[in-house]
Amino acid sequence: MSRRVLITGGAGFIGSHTCLVLLEQGHELVVLDNFDNSSPEALRRVQELAGSTQLTLVEGDVRDASAVDKAFGSGGAVDGVIHFAGLKAVGESVGNPLLYWDVNVNGSRVLAAAMERHGCRTLVFSSTSTAYGEPETFPLREDMPTAPVHPYAQTKVAVEQMLAALCRSGPWRVASLRYFNPVGAHPSGQIGEDPMGIPNNLFPFITQVAAGRREQLRIFGQDYPTPDGTGIRDYLHVMDLAEAHGKALEHLLQQPTPYSLTLNIGTGRGLSVLEVVQGFEAATGLTIPYEVVERRPGDVPRLEACPQTAQIVLGWSARRTLEEMCRDGWAWQQANPSGYRGPT
Ligand SMILES: NC(=O)c1ccc[n+]([C@@H]2O[C@H](COP(=O)([O-])OP(=O)(O)OC[C@H]3O[C@@H](n4cnc5c(N)ncnc54)[C@H](O)[C@@H]3O)[C@@H](O)[C@H]2O)c1
Repeated sequence: MSRRVLITGGAGFIGSHTCLVLLEQGHELVVLDNFDNSSPEALRRVQELAGSTQLTLVEGDVRDASAVDKAFGSGGAVDGVIHFAGLKAVGESVGNPLLYWDVNVNGSRVLAAAMERHGCRTLVFSSTSTAYGEPETFPLREDMPTAPVHPYAQTKVAVEQMLAALCRSGPWRVASLRYFNPVGAHPSGQIGEDPMGIPNNLFPFITQVAAGRREQLRIFGQDYPTPDGTGIRDYLHVMDLAEAHGKALEHLLQQPTPYSLTLNIGTGRGLSVLEVVQGFEAATGLTIPYEVVERRPGDVPRLEACPQTAQIVLGWSARRTLEEMCRDGWAWQQANPSGYRGPT
């Protein structure tokens, strides 16, 4: 069944891949994005890849109620919202917490208020595995306590709590998806992760080093209590993550209200930074020079999902391998050495 879906932050890394999956499934999309960390070119390519023009773009800020109203008013009734728009750099959030509370929390509040006004109370929210803080038992299950240790994660937990309160107050249906570490790109190499400035995440850093755009990879800390001393994360292919959104939204739309769900979205298999570097070298035949530098504020030693609930509730599990993550991420970087900005 075709749905009309509002996607905030739809031009971003995860948003653009999700837009592609939903367009290919025949849905009609409205994207609200202020291009703070993305480019309209991503949406042009998404439509080209999908062979669909069922995408309306509203350029604006999710904190601006009139922009959100414009997105709701740009066509027929919206069936559900997927809320990606937000800031995600842990270090930046430590230095500028008010910005993170404004964009992530206030932005979500303005969006939820608009949803109330427009009678659309079905929402998939981008939460994070960092909500668990510095856990000591693994794998992480959704019923474990949240204990965020930096402002970025604190803002995401605050939004989860606001949404849970909305579900107690009225006919809302909410899924908070706690993503682990999405990497890779669409296999076409046409869309991918295009961070502004020095990448905060491991994968774009590796691919930019492989491409000669940066001299060497910086590994933040090799003195963590892990087998090789580098941090362990649960990396998943961004296409697997994008597919989880389609399933989560469809699941919500079939539930009676109120309904609230929190799901880990990961593979359940953690990899250290050095294992990822080796995996990338094996998949591409390249060598990645690196230096070990100080730990970053806010980073934790290990995050690894128990992805069983998503499997049981949504029938979703991550299917793609580390090799595919590396191959597809590298194909994107090679075809787009300067991301969406430069000549391809
Ligand atoms: N990438 C990850 O590792 C990861 C992990 C866990 C959670 N998340 C969350 O998932 C969401 C999407 O992440 P991503 O990796 O695609 O990030 P991204 O930066 O690529 O995408 C975010 C999008 O939101 C837009 N945006 C930012 N502020 C906005 C505002 N005020 N109004 C309108 N649009 C705005 C940006 O321009 C961008 O297109 C974020 O909320 C992020 O916190 C990401």
